[in-house]
Amino acid sequence: MCGIIGFVGRKEAAPILLDGLARMEYRGYDSAGIALRSETKGIQVRKSKGRLQTLSELTHGGADLEGVLGIGHTRWATHGEPNDANAHPHVSENGKIALVHNGIIENYLEIKEQLMKYGVTFSSDTDSEVVAQLLEYHYKECGNMMEAVGRCLRRIEGAYAFGIICADYPNALIAARKDSPLILGFSPEGNFIASDVTAILQHTRDVVYMNDGEIAVLTADSIDVFDDEMNPLEKTHSFVEWDVAAAEKGGYPHFMFKEILEQPEAIRKTISPRIRDGRVVLDDIHISAEEARNINHIYIIACGSAYHAGVVAKYIWERILRRPVEVTLASEFRYSQPLVDEHTLVIAISQSGETLDTMAALREAKRLGGRTLAVCNVVGSSIAREAHDVLYTWAGPEIAVATSKGYSTQLVAMDLVGLYLADLLGTIEPEEYSAVLTEMQKLPEKMQTYLENFEDTQYFASRYFNHDSVFFIGRNLDYAMGLEGSLKLKEISYIHSEAYASGELKHGTISLIEPGTLVIALGSYGPLFDKAMSNVVEVRARGAEVLAITTDAFREKMAKTADSVISVPDTHPLLQPTLSIVPLQLFAYYVALQRGCDIDKPRNLAKSVTVE
Ligand code: G6P
Repeated sequence: MCGIIGFVGRKEAAPILLDGLARMEYRGYDSAGIALRSETKGIQVRKSKGRLQTLSELTHGGADLEGVLGIGHTRWATHGEPNDANAHPHVSENGKIALVHNGIIENYLEIKEQLMKYGVTFSSDTDSEVVAQLLEYHYKECGNMMEAVGRCLRRIEGAYAFGIICADYPNALIAARKDSPLILGFSPEGNFIASDVTAILQHTRDVVYMNDGEIAVLTADSIDVFDDEMNPLEKTHSFVEWDVAAAEKGGYPHFMFKEILEQPEAIRKTISPRIRDGRVVLDDIHISAEEARNINHIYIIACGSAYHAGVVAKYIWERILRRPVEVTLASEFRYSQPLVDEHTLVIAISQSGETLDTMAALREAKRLGGRTLAVCNVVGSSIAREAHDVLYTWAGPEIAVATSKGYSTQLVAMDLVGLYLADLLGTIEPEEYSAVLTEMQKLPEKMQTYLENFEDTQYFASRYFNHDSVFFIGRNLDYAMGLEGSLKLKEISYIHSEAYASGELKHGTISLIEPGTLVIALGSYGPLFDKAMSNVVEVRARGAEVLAITTDAFREKMAKTADSVISVPDTHPLLQPTLSIVPLQLFAYYVALQRGCDIDKPRNLAKSVTVE
């Protein structure tokens, strides 16, 4: 969703801002803009609806706007339609203050009405412009920009990350944060604010994460951070492990394709530092055996694909932990008066660590006294910092909106946590513990084996891409994985698709099967393979065309009933989804390619959903 960048330094800011915005394009947006402060022209703004390319052409790559101080924004419309006027930056009426904003100001209408009574004229429908005008009001009142920011922040309610510049302050970029991510970056050429580290990675990996309620003032040479009462704060610098190449396409046609192929390495990085001498060692998790024994209920909260990773984990954890595990959509959890107390462990899974619903659900769980653990990919993200413990997935930056390596590393991270807890609790047989762990270490290599030869997946995509409705069926872990396979297909190819637990077919869905309907039958979970076969027979009898996903061991048997078969190497049944999901990701990718879809930036979707 919306992206913020700001720069103050010794170089022309406009090209730096445009480049930073381009690197955040993947987050999803529908308009973009930049504002620069120059000695001679004061504040200058250029913004436009649509792709960044338009903004770049409008400003001749930034050459039209001079100044070493500026802010930029990509907007994903919430208040007001996506058009030029509603695009950020917003400028106050006298043209002196420009602001970019991520988040939502809840009391903006009330403030707007009041300002209108004072004669302020508004030029957009946004909640963000109200803040720019309120700043001008307070600045006129007190004559000091920092004081004006303080007064303004005390007046507004809601979530925000702000980047602010003022014509009267030639060398000051002001930032403020509450419930919306914002980081500060230090570099010899100048200093940065950004909502997403990928926007500034090419300039610096030396960053400071802002906390809620903090205000920062950046100049070319310094960054000062204050609390909400303007007391100076000492902040710790962090070094970003990601490198700039990891966030670039590097010759691949799409980020999604690159990220699918990166999975063996991402999984290796996620698991190998955490398995030592045949045991799972999670240095970052501080749950003692006694605390673990005290847990009688586990919730997994997440959204989208992360939720699907949670569904897979539920099947595995209940088996190895012998405790009830409930997977709940974060957006539902937060309003459901969940039964959380000090005996509840709540796991929040989030690639970005910024999904608003997951964040709100996590806060609710904490408020109710639950013990919380985050599984996140982005170091320093809000969810990672707010949970009691965090286990990072080491997938590296994920740029394609449709997750692939983010999801598969969540699967293995949850396997690790599950095994760790099972070991603490003594609820898993030592033989099974060792068997899973041994197989887990072989996952990268086995996944690579499949990835070296996936022509058949590509071929089946070209054979089936014309279908307009697809059903994924499977049982147990195959069903859990099917949820994700189906989501992948629908989000990037726009084909209607649904995943069903095979046992439910007869309770309704089977009425939708008619000659030619494409059914993707998932039969990779060994213990229930024969039942998967029966379901294939059942849907074929109704005329369905069946593409089956199975393992190498079952391939021959499956080929006797299904029309087409894709197989992946065998592993421990509990780990099979991590391998079997890969052909489903590639199938979705190639189907979308055949259909000419915008694979990395599917319509209406955003990488990180920071609004409700
Ligand atoms: C969006 C993304 C999905 C992701 C979901 C949850 O919908 O497009 O790929 O699974 O958000 O995101 P999170 O960052 O919390 O994992």
